Amino acid sequence: MSETTTTAPGPAAESRPAPPAVPFRELVELACRAPSLHNTQPWRWRADGTRLRLYADRTRQLPHSDPDGRAVAISCGAALHHAQVAAEALGWEVVVRRCPDPADPDLLATLDLAPGRVVPAAQERLEALRARSTDRRRFTSWPLPAERLDRLAERAAAWGAKVVPVVDPGRQVALEELMRRADEIERGDPDHVAEVAPWVGSRGAQGVPVTSIPEVNPHRPAVPSRYQPGEPADPRGELPDPQGEPGEFVEGLMVLGTLEDDPPAWLRCGETLSALWLGTLRQGLSLLPLSQVTEVPATRERLRHDVLDGLLWPQLTVRVGWQEITRGPLPRAPRGPVEEVLRFD
Ligand SMILES: Cc1cc2nc3c(=O)[nH]c(=O)nc-3n(C[C@H](O)[C@H](O)[C@H](O)COP(=O)(O)O)c2cc1C
Repeated sequence: MSETTTTAPGPAAESRPAPPAVPFRELVELACRAPSLHNTQPWRWRADGTRLRLYADRTRQLPHSDPDGRAVAISCGAALHHAQVAAEALGWEVVVRRCPDPADPDLLATLDLAPGRVVPAAQERLEALRARSTDRRRFTSWPLPAERLDRLAERAAAWGAKVVPVVDPGRQVALEELMRRADEIERGDPDHVAEVAPWVGSRGAQGVPVTSIPEVNPHRPAVPSRYQPGEPADPRGELPDPQGEPGEFVEGLMVLGTLEDDPPAWLRCGETLSALWLGTLRQGLSLLPLSQVTEVPATRERLRHDVLDGLLWPQLTVRVGWQEITRGPLPRAPRGPVEEVLRFD
């Protein structure tokens, strides 16, 4: 039965054009292009009328590396930001409520959509969203002025988390050392290794594929990527990575931190991560999340005190830098079908 018949509208309502239907499928497909820890894609969506609900999918939470669901909330926050970028570019205004129901902690956000107008900047953001993927090839050594990092950080911080560029040489060295230590701790932890292994080198619709992992390179950066061969990630990377001299590892490091350390703060951190990532891409830069140092409690605590003066809770470390423009295209990491994560109520 049509809506007109059931609601029996009067003549004025009959002549009014029906409001356009929210393109939920397209929105969710774009939102699910968001980054997530080991490409776990820990989100679920429900659509109802003009409302979209974002839920954490606890079956995709890694209990050993992410006991509190921090990485789940950060990943979902990135998807929430992606959804807002997509909605805006498709001509929809969005009102977001974060963690709206204390009785339902898995409901991370509601998005209420209404027809709006399309602004050119929104189209550019959507282009960056479509182009984004995690590039683990070594950065070049082209300089990255501190002012540029500051500007990127400032803009992204409007999404709710603080973004702290680490430019002081002493702190850079301290952070590099903590990252190396976190990598060592995780590689030496059999529970961590066992938990991560199924997500790395996978060929299905989830996890980090070998085509996203750089091939073995003698000029490896000072701190190896977590997905270099050797536990916890054994598979050989298949992504070609040139053999030139590596850039200085310590350049371009930033810490995303928050005043609180709870799900709303983690969600905001994910939104900030996504905004920062799209902002760097629009400037021709590349961003790589490096989360081991915030996964290991001991190194996270040291990072909080030694690099952030105890003022912020470190949620995620990233490195921003230049990729060589002549490099080959980056294969896309897979995503599961939208039908599996979107339910219509
Ligand atoms: C919270 C979080 C932590 C991440 N940590 C790392 C990391 O330590 N190293 C890394 O190479 N990629 C990291 N990533 C990137 C994911 O592996 C990547 O987003 C995922 O594999 C999907 O691939 P895509 O970003 O190319 O779409 C992280 C992403 C998120 C959201």
